[in-house]
Amino acid sequence: MKNIESKLTESRSYKPSESFEKKANITKEILFELNSQYKKNPDIFWGELAKKHIDWIEEFKTVCSGSAPFFRWFEEGKLNVSSNCLDRHINKNKKAIIHISEDNNKTVITYDELYVLVNNFSHSLKELGLVKGDRVIIYMPTIPEAITAMLACARLGVIHSIVFAGFSSESLKDRINDCNAKIVITVNAFKRNGKIIEAKNTVDHALSLGCPSIEKCIIYKNINENTKFNKDKDLWWHDILAKESIVVEPEIMSSEDLLFILYTSGSTGKPKGIVHSSAGYLLNCILTNKWVFDLKDDDLFWCTADIGWITGHSYVVYGPLATGSTILIYDGAPTYPKADRFWEIIEANKVTIFYTAPTAIRTLMKLGEHLPKKYNLNSLRLLGTVGEPINPKAWIWYQSNIGGKKCPIVDTWWQTETGANMIAPIPGATQTIPGTCTHPLPGIDVDIVDDDGNSINKRNQGGNLVIRKPWPSMLRGIWNDEERYKQTYWEKYNNKYYITGDTARLDNNGNIWIMGRSDDVVNVSGHRLGTMEIESAIVSHEYVAESAVVSYQHEIKGEAIHAFVTLKNNFTEYNNTEFAKELREWVKEKIGSIAKPERISFSDSLPKTRSGKIMRRLLRNLARGEDISGDTSTLENENILAQLKNIL
Ligand code: WTA
Repeated sequence: MKNIESKLTESRSYKPSESFEKKANITKEILFELNSQYKKNPDIFWGELAKKHIDWIEEFKTVCSGSAPFFRWFEEGKLNVSSNCLDRHINKNKKAIIHISEDNNKTVITYDELYVLVNNFSHSLKELGLVKGDRVIIYMPTIPEAITAMLACARLGVIHSIVFAGFSSESLKDRINDCNAKIVITVNAFKRNGKIIEAKNTVDHALSLGCPSIEKCIIYKNINENTKFNKDKDLWWHDILAKESIVVEPEIMSSEDLLFILYTSGSTGKPKGIVHSSAGYLLNCILTNKWVFDLKDDDLFWCTADIGWITGHSYVVYGPLATGSTILIYDGAPTYPKADRFWEIIEANKVTIFYTAPTAIRTLMKLGEHLPKKYNLNSLRLLGTVGEPINPKAWIWYQSNIGGKKCPIVDTWWQTETGANMIAPIPGATQTIPGTCTHPLPGIDVDIVDDDGNSINKRNQGGNLVIRKPWPSMLRGIWNDEERYKQTYWEKYNNKYYITGDTARLDNNGNIWIMGRSDDVVNVSGHRLGTMEIESAIVSHEYVAESAVVSYQHEIKGEAIHAFVTLKNNFTEYNNTEFAKELREWVKEKIGSIAKPERISFSDSLPKTRSGKIMRRLLRNLARGEDISGDTSTLENENILAQLKNIL
């Protein structure tokens, strides 16, 4: 822990403008009030917010119960999340979704229309025999039908699990089997960067690898493409959807009933199915959309995240729709067909709030500021970032070239597990500094502790970021793996804190700076990947004996992957660029494109301790071009370092 001393300093800071402050949902005074209410009594604080922001079928009797690591929120309360996102916003002629396709087709869907779509699709799912608690996999790009499918599941109490449509058939199969899903909903195909991606073929391949729980596959005809149709299993969305409007009574759900499972990478090979509840999750989604994104009735909110990630769940679907807002979704590549696609969409639709990832900002920054300059981006009033630390240079670029120096930037720290923003500026109240996500939100009690769990009082000294008190949208566990849940998030400090897995420091003004992960998880373009997962994909190739995967800083992606590989004795001749290329494709097939190693180095062996443990720390030094730091006395094969240095 002593090693994580920070050397970063940043002196630029920005106050919210007077005009923003005046109209903000949360002013300094309200923020002060919220923080003091929480301090006084967390139960009253959360209880009152839950009563105010959620439509209950039956009100809850207790606010928070249970003890670490198993907390329950708003028990005996009854609600339905889809009703909160739809039923309470109909008959107002309000737009819910503006969808732009990669081909630039625009579809506008009102809350009334979405209500009909969701009810009709719920009816179809019900007819197929789905009942509360069943699992459904959604393997679709970010299109209105994917949102319809999510809300239809929520209406019936069916647990959805979205698998990012860029994942391979192997990844899809693993997720289907882990949660024993009965139905998979997909599209025949979609376009990305002008290319046709045949999602249905990937599903077919996944099913052919063995998914015994799947009974049916529903296909939405997303583009005009011939698609293989299997009469026994496949159903067309348009065939099963009722032609006239059918109202499906929302299932009465308990607060703690599960809403969804979302798989994320951990530090072992197997992805974790993070589970979220209904009421608690919904509450933090609503609050953060109002507090951090300052969402108001006349806003148009564009969060560029795919629905396959948690950001898409909380800031494209559940949060914005529960607050009755209008969202823009774009299912296409940020730079297709032209590098100025994002800016063109903002101008044409008058987007007011824009939320994206640092990796996208860095990509667009590299393409030049003349591109956003061609457009009138004056409609924007607030910008956000998420997924990884944003470097001050990209922050400043974003602020001046996109925000016209007038938009506050909310750098939001959170995780799949936390369900919603945890540490972020309140745009009308917080002074922001490029590179820090500033302070915890009201009701979120974080600390930075050393390996023994003691608070680190010294400023600018790094430590483990933990959350001390439960909060409503916290994960309720890992699907089917209670042991792993306890071990990953709670054990190290004997259930005293929720362990985020991130390291962080406090600066002299009490701002929190995220420094990176403390485990074997890397963050490539804002997507979490377990190095073990990639290693096991690589070693599953028949030529490969061993592999170790580490990350290094990358200008655009934040972090990129460097794989060290040793080949089996009878395949050593393949230590060439040709095979490296094949191995990259192999990883793409096993996990998906995002996991492809940027660099691959072949060597005779890997640095190991005498007990046979690969010393990834040394490989990290090598990949990052650093001097070998720390102790190498336990190294069994010292000359391997020299060999590796030579080939890099
Ligand atoms: C990282 C994404 C720095 C962090 C919502 C976290 C960040 C992981 C930030 C979660 C931020 C997310 N600044 N780092 N503003 N936001 N991270 O589950 O390491 O895909 O633990 O959730 O991303 O990634 P996940």
